[in-house]
Amino acid sequence: MLTSVLPFTPEMAATVTQYCTEHSTDVSPEMKEVWDWTCGEFEDADKMSSPLQGTTMKFLASWAGAKRVLEFGAYSGYSALAWYEATKQTQAEIITLELDPKMIAATRTTIAKYNLGDRLTVIEGPAQQSVEKLTGMFDIIFVDANKDGYLGYVKAVLDQKLLSPKGLIMCDNVFARGMTISTESNPQLPDKVRPYWTECGKALQKFNTYVKNDPRIDVVLLPVYDGVNISFKLAAAERPPGGAGRKPVGGHAEGADARRHVAAAVVAGFGASAEMQPAREPPRCRVGVYARAPRRVDQLGAPGTPPPSPPGMRPAMTGCA
Ligand SMILES: C[S@@+](CC[C@H](N)C(=O)[O-])C[C@H]1O[C@@H](n2cnc3c(N)ncnc32)[C@H](O)[C@@H]1O
Repeated sequence: MLTSVLPFTPEMAATVTQYCTEHSTDVSPEMKEVWDWTCGEFEDADKMSSPLQGTTMKFLASWAGAKRVLEFGAYSGYSALAWYEATKQTQAEIITLELDPKMIAATRTTIAKYNLGDRLTVIEGPAQQSVEKLTGMFDIIFVDANKDGYLGYVKAVLDQKLLSPKGLIMCDNVFARGMTISTESNPQLPDKVRPYWTECGKALQKFNTYVKNDPRIDVVLLPVYDGVNISFKLAAAERPPGGAGRKPVGGHAEGADARRHVAAAVVAGFGASAEMQPAREPPRCRVGVYARAPRRVDQLGAPGTPPPSPPGMRPAMTGCA
């Protein structure tokens, strides 16, 4: 039996990620443009999802037929654009929560440039406060903001019954570059970012244990990217009496439906397990094989303008968490 994560070297991991990206459906020109622009514009662009993650998100949202999506952490609007594009058929409402004024402005630029304002809303401010004001249900909830907030976010989602019966909660970066599992697990993590990810790892250890034991959800922690935790709601009939503990798997139609989505996500993300490999440099989007001069917001081209890749070249599609 293979272990869940193949023993790649960082070089192999980058090659495998590139291979997977090249053999997956391309993201749209608009997504590629936002990704390129973000990498050129922001020093910490490695916070943005990778194109392969973008394809995974689109796959998931369209498979789920999502009608409402909630996102914690917009950054420049890249993942929100993925949700938007994936839900053209269902005309889903997308809500993204963002705290940083600079990233709120970036997301608003993305929204304006691609006319996403009919279905995509940014709620400004601390996500915990924002989520506590939300009502109704969401089919996909993507948690990708501050790592020490994950537990509070998922708890609020469950307490307020924001997750639809067939919905999924997907939480990114729950490995914290490996620090969640052990501070010894990633010797290549640069010293500059090690203290930050070590703290994240402590918070995410608590978080991963919490979701495993919350009797309202079933969970699978996938060893893809930087660790992706996917939870779905257990139907009342499936809940074990008396709270935390073992949860039965399978049987209920709604649960089974959500598990089908999880299976799809596993298939979609499997080849990308290489992306959990450590960053080899401090947070900075690894834009790959060609240099790109930073562009300012007001230098963005008109919608549909091709990205600035030299002919025959494309940026390395390595992951940015
Ligand atoms: C990893 S980035 C999000 C990336 C984005 N989802 C994507 O895939 O491109 C995390 C974002 O969460 C935001 N954030 C951090 N703490 C927050 C908080 N307490 N409330 C809301 N947003 C927060 C950060 O400003 C940052 O833009």
